[in-house]
Amino acid sequence: MNILLIGSGGREHALAWSMAQSKLCTKLYCAPGNAGIESCAELVDIGADNVDALVSFAKNNAIDLVVVGPEGPLVLGLADRLQEAGIDAFGPSAAAARLEGSKGFMKDLCAKYDIPTAGYGRFTDVENAAAFIAQTGAPIVVKADGLAAGKGVIIAETEGEAVEAVKDMLCGNSFGTAGAEVIIEEFMDGEEVSYFALADGKTILPLTSAQDHKRVGDGDVGLNTGGMGAYSPARLMDDALEQKILTQIIEPTVAAMQAEGCAFAGVLYAGLMIVEGEPKLIEYNARFGDPECQTIMVRLESDLVEILQAAAQGRLDAVRDNVRWGADPSMCVVMATKGYPGSYEKNTVINGLQDTANVQDLTVFHAGTVRNEDGDVVSIGGRVLGITATGKDLREAKGKCYRAVDLIDWPEGFCRRDIGWRALKSDDEAV
Ligand code: AMP
Ligand code: GLY
Repeated sequence: MNILLIGSGGREHALAWSMAQSKLCTKLYCAPGNAGIESCAELVDIGADNVDALVSFAKNNAIDLVVVGPEGPLVLGLADRLQEAGIDAFGPSAAAARLEGSKGFMKDLCAKYDIPTAGYGRFTDVENAAAFIAQTGAPIVVKADGLAAGKGVIIAETEGEAVEAVKDMLCGNSFGTAGAEVIIEEFMDGEEVSYFALADGKTILPLTSAQDHKRVGDGDVGLNTGGMGAYSPARLMDDALEQKILTQIIEPTVAAMQAEGCAFAGVLYAGLMIVEGEPKLIEYNARFGDPECQTIMVRLESDLVEILQAAAQGRLDAVRDNVRWGADPSMCVVMATKGYPGSYEKNTVINGLQDTANVQDLTVFHAGTVRNEDGDVVSIGGRVLGITATGKDLREAKGKCYRAVDLIDWPEGFCRRDIGWRALKSDDEAV
């Protein structure tokens, strides 16, 4: 098969790394890719949001399967356009990607189909929003309706702060059209888990769980980021919780999307809050998580291409028994450029990457990297590397990740030193 992967992050490097190992893969392209993906795919110089150019490339290069990494092109309708052109695409239609692209759509679907999530209201004017805030009380959560690159969520500690956030989103320009409507939600107090399942429109194929670390600083302090590290599976996950997630959240969602005429095919990434053992939906994403994907791919022992193609072709039933996971847990530590998630320097040289090859069961997935004229790997993004390892237990995986971090010579970079702390702390307490 000729496969085209869309995206340029650590998630896409992990997907490319896994697909390149597939016996079904003849040729793998990646648009636009990065300096790490280069080692497993041919890079194509087309941006991930350039739908027309991507469709033309797929047609002209006899592409059999397009795998869409990020949400942007999905919301723009890339999967629809490819299907129209008769090309299999892994990733939902624009109508189905509204699960991620519009928080209001997602919340209304949950309300209509009784899917457990935080109570909420949708508002386009400040006055009604303020009344809802006064009635609900703080802490309370204010969200921009549309895609805001992970920045459209404010956890307000006071009612005043919540009203300010509403004004900012509805009247300010910082969120563009994403902030034309706000969702105000009840605050849920619990521990977060990311859960991933594939769907082909009707059938579900459960994958696995991970736990992300969204705050920039050790101990979960500081600004929210796209994710500074993850491990898989999540510590809270057991068979009973997984069954609840599937029967109360994932299955009703896939059935609801079908009933609404926008069947969901692709990967459903449920951001969940586990409150006293019960899963509640925080949000849906219509794509793999980054850095969760890195931790999942290194645990997957099956042929990823076979599974993604089956999802794209509506025959997940046929591969249901083909998904195997390694026994070892995994961890991914993100190295970011100092300053991230605020402004940061670009074009800084990263040395020592080759030394990490000596660390066992370890892969360095690239995110914001390119190669300069001298052949050096240079940073061009906020999140730059995803140092990913498996181990007989999480502690061993963590040891490998940080050994590799210490081999990398990149003065402009930083990472959190405590990825997996919740799981490791509960292990310690159990001893
Ligand atoms: P979202 O983009 O909707 O996933 O929100 C980003 C982050 O905000 C989540 O990962 C949670 O940590 C937090 N969050 C969002 N909604 C709620 C809520 N209703 N209660 C508590 N925390 C929330
Ligand atoms: N790691 C969070 C996300 O991918 O949205």
